[in-house]
Amino acid sequence: MVIFGASGDLTKRKLMPAIYSLYKEGRLPKEFSVLGVGRTIYTDTNYRSHISEEMKRFVKQEDLDEKLVETFLPHLSYLSIDPSQESEYGQLDSRLKDLSGEEHPENLLYYLATPPSLYGVIPLHLKKWKLNSKFSRIIVEKPFGYNLESAQELNRIYASVFDEHQIYRIDHFLGKETAQNLLAFRFANGIFEPLWNRNYVDYVEVTAVENMGIEQRGGFYDTTGALRDMVQNHLIQLVALTAMEPPVSFNADSFRNEVVKVYDSLTPLTEIDLDEHIVRGQYTASGSKKGYREEKNVASDSRTETYIAMKIGINNWRWNGVPFYIRTGKQMPTKVTEIVVHFKETPHQMFHMEGGVTPLANKLTLRLQPNEGIVLKFGMKLPGPGFEVKPVSMDFTYDKLGGVPMGDAYARLIEDCIQGDPTLFTRSDAVEASWRFFDPILDYWKGNANAPLYGYPVGTWGPLESEAMMHEHGVDWTNPCKNLTNTDQYCEL
Ligand code: BG6
Repeated sequence: MVIFGASGDLTKRKLMPAIYSLYKEGRLPKEFSVLGVGRTIYTDTNYRSHISEEMKRFVKQEDLDEKLVETFLPHLSYLSIDPSQESEYGQLDSRLKDLSGEEHPENLLYYLATPPSLYGVIPLHLKKWKLNSKFSRIIVEKPFGYNLESAQELNRIYASVFDEHQIYRIDHFLGKETAQNLLAFRFANGIFEPLWNRNYVDYVEVTAVENMGIEQRGGFYDTTGALRDMVQNHLIQLVALTAMEPPVSFNADSFRNEVVKVYDSLTPLTEIDLDEHIVRGQYTASGSKKGYREEKNVASDSRTETYIAMKIGINNWRWNGVPFYIRTGKQMPTKVTEIVVHFKETPHQMFHMEGGVTPLANKLTLRLQPNEGIVLKFGMKLPGPGFEVKPVSMDFTYDKLGGVPMGDAYARLIEDCIQGDPTLFTRSDAVEASWRFFDPILDYWKGNANAPLYGYPVGTWGPLESEAMMHEHGVDWTNPCKNLTNTDQYCEL
């Protein structure tokens, strides 16, 4: 496995811990090598000690077995080259020969964890050096492309180097157990599907917010923004899982066909929608916390969004008229990813509801992280005289599945790629369909320097305008409690 961008953030935070966890569980072949490639200079020994240090930070304490780490580290090596320079790939070629002991190593898995500007360059250099055997595979991080045109161009480049079945466009949200469980919840049970449509659902919220800023990623983030970083991929994937038709079977083609159908059904955004149905924000300083523009490697007049809320529609028989409200933001009060399906109210309420709230709307919350679980809210009579009804929750948490550890998303996806299973990766047509939908927003912002960008202080739930967008539907965002921990019960749902 060759990791381009091996000295970067993703490698130390996610990829190495994931590879280590596969190693720990005996899920890697006996003989494997991971070659880190990057511009930073390391010897093999330095690189191993660097990774060993970072693993202490990014691998869960209980999973870190010192003896095992000692046997894991010798599988890692490092090559310092500039991946943008084709002439340097000769060094890669000979390192791969050395590591594999083969004249023409073919069993190669490339992982592109570099800045996106290199996504189009590396495959072409690999091809020049004939390092793209028909057995090789390539995983590419998101965002795949910068807009529709660049994504199409990237797809053309990749298709000239690899076959589609060798290309794995990764969106790690799909590697999360809880995202996959949404499919099980919907399609392994008979009772929810009949309700899962415009006749019973009033609106849907998809939230993926974080209580941290952009960390050390100013350079990347300031040219990317929340729309490209989170919405065009992670959020819209969650919308697809929520809205898709049941695939005929759970294989790569059937599943991914249904994803593309959802993207193709998204109500196109017109210019009026762009002002009315999209709220973009940027966090501002609060107390001792820096605002976005004070972050390292961020322009002091940056108009990059760190928050997006949008109302989107799906034009098909199942969903026409049901708004999907999606939002993501940095520096929010908590970190939470969840989907909330709000059912329509009872047509008539004959009972007195606690707090005078009447009539009752059932609500289903699917929480992907943290304290992963599913909660259904419904009304029950309060014990005692009279007939007062109170909303109560019925909940399922994943720890009830007998202590099965929540798998790591990257580990799951890297293993799928090794096994040659692309189901949970994005197909070329899906990535283009998604950009096709979002492109008008990017064009609109580009062409309108004064398109609104609202500030929100660090630690708040985003610009007030996003509340106003929900008020049009007569509702508020569902904001979970502030300090969610794994042991918390659900609250304010
Ligand atoms: C990444 C984004 O894809 O997802 C980050 O680039 C974001 O900005 C991260 O923080 C969130 O992922 P998770 O799994 O921590 O919710």
